[in-house]
Amino acid sequence: VRQLFKQRRPPGFPPGPSPIPVIGNILSLATEPHVFLKKQSEVHGQIFSLDLGGILTVVLNGYDCVRECLYHQSEVFADRPSLPLFMKMTKMGGLLNCKYGKGWIEHRKLACNSFRYFGSGQRQFERRISEECMFFVDAIDKHKGKPFNPKHLVTNAVSNITNLIIFGQRFTYDDSNFQHMIELFSENVELAVSGWALLYNAFPCIEYLPFGKHQKLFRNAAEVYDFLLQNAGDPTSSFSQENLIYSVGELIIAGTETTTNTLRWAMLYMALYPNIQERVHREIDSVLSNGRAPTLEDKQKMPFVEAVLHEILRFCNIVPLGIFRATSQDAKVKGYSIPKGTMVITNLYSVHFDEKYWNDPGVFLPERFLDSNGNFVRREAFLPFSLGKRCCLGEQLARMEMFLFFTTLLQRFHLQFPPGSVPSLTPKLGMTLQPKPYSICAVRRQQRV
Ligand code: HEM
Repeated sequence: VRQLFKQRRPPGFPPGPSPIPVIGNILSLATEPHVFLKKQSEVHGQIFSLDLGGILTVVLNGYDCVRECLYHQSEVFADRPSLPLFMKMTKMGGLLNCKYGKGWIEHRKLACNSFRYFGSGQRQFERRISEECMFFVDAIDKHKGKPFNPKHLVTNAVSNITNLIIFGQRFTYDDSNFQHMIELFSENVELAVSGWALLYNAFPCIEYLPFGKHQKLFRNAAEVYDFLLQNAGDPTSSFSQENLIYSVGELIIAGTETTTNTLRWAMLYMALYPNIQERVHREIDSVLSNGRAPTLEDKQKMPFVEAVLHEILRFCNIVPLGIFRATSQDAKVKGYSIPKGTMVITNLYSVHFDEKYWNDPGVFLPERFLDSNGNFVRREAFLPFSLGKRCCLGEQLARMEMFLFFTTLLQRFHLQFPPGSVPSLTPKLGMTLQPKPYSICAVRRQQRV
């Protein structure tokens, strides 16, 4: 009865699709939730509400609405929801799912400073990434142009960049302990938005059921934190060891899963569109004369490569619904009243497919990021890293990694599908969208000088 009462929308709350008793709208999020939610916004408006089994939720759609909330009311929308799942996993501490307040400020500062100090800003660090790029292409070369699934290598190479910052060392591509930890983590990114996770948030008592995917989620998390604990650093730190472990874990997975998926989609689309790949090859060859390795300075001389990477981020929607937010105080949006503590879903997919800002958003077209002279142009409604106080803190690092890995890879190889096979383009659903496992051939190419 309590659950049934909880489903009632408070006065002034945005409207939304009718919930069914007890579980509300949970079932409608089972397949391609980002697409479903965009369609709903065409019926109920850019801001509307959902009932996730008694948890009242507001969904923001389209660039104008997302900007109005995340940018113009940055602080109001800077919290994370106190969901039973997050409470159980990281006790609302750590960094990524931390409540908005002192703990979050301290951990975000620590992460940003470490990135600045050990990483992103530094020349020497760029060299470390370039070294990893070489390990990466050499490992791919071992397949000698035969079909292979690039998931494992891309994941390991990408996470090594975060590992260099956090642990000061890389893990070799055959380190099975590390491999295992990343797999568990990655599985949790998928499970975190599964029906079982949503049910757990609505009905935490299912914790005591002996079955269900939420149990797997908890087991995976326990094993991962155990691995990290063995590698934990300074015991004299004022930050509690537990909280640091949560932060570190979140940095590793947030950085690995997203950048890896972007590169896996990029490889897939290069093989799918040989004409685009050909233009990428031409640009790389003209800038990197005599086959020298790319540096970040080359980025501004490669507008087409930049355009391709931007279009991958727009079109493939790596984090389609962002990371769940919550209001840190009572809010007013478009005349609606949203109480403090309401869960907020930012539909970033609907920003990237917003017809007001993009022509034919369903078409893969890197040229939309170029002007008539072929120069790269920024586009306003491009928010793969989200916006406002909780925006992605790894954006700069991710951009470095994507550019260096992608150009090093395409400089050396021509990518093609094994004869007669075209992989599915339908994403595998989870908190992030990733391609279904696919095989690809990386054939060594001769650079034109
Ligand atoms: C948050 C996207 C790479 C660390 C986020 C958010 C998005 C995002 C959409 C949610 C922000 C919000 O709440 O609105 C991406 C994409 C990446 C990427 C598309 C790569 C292509 C990275 C990297 C790191 C990282 C390389 C670190 C190594 C984080 C962290 C947060 C976050 C810690 C939580 C920030 C907070 O709550 O204050 N990212 N990210 N991300 N990202 Fe990234």
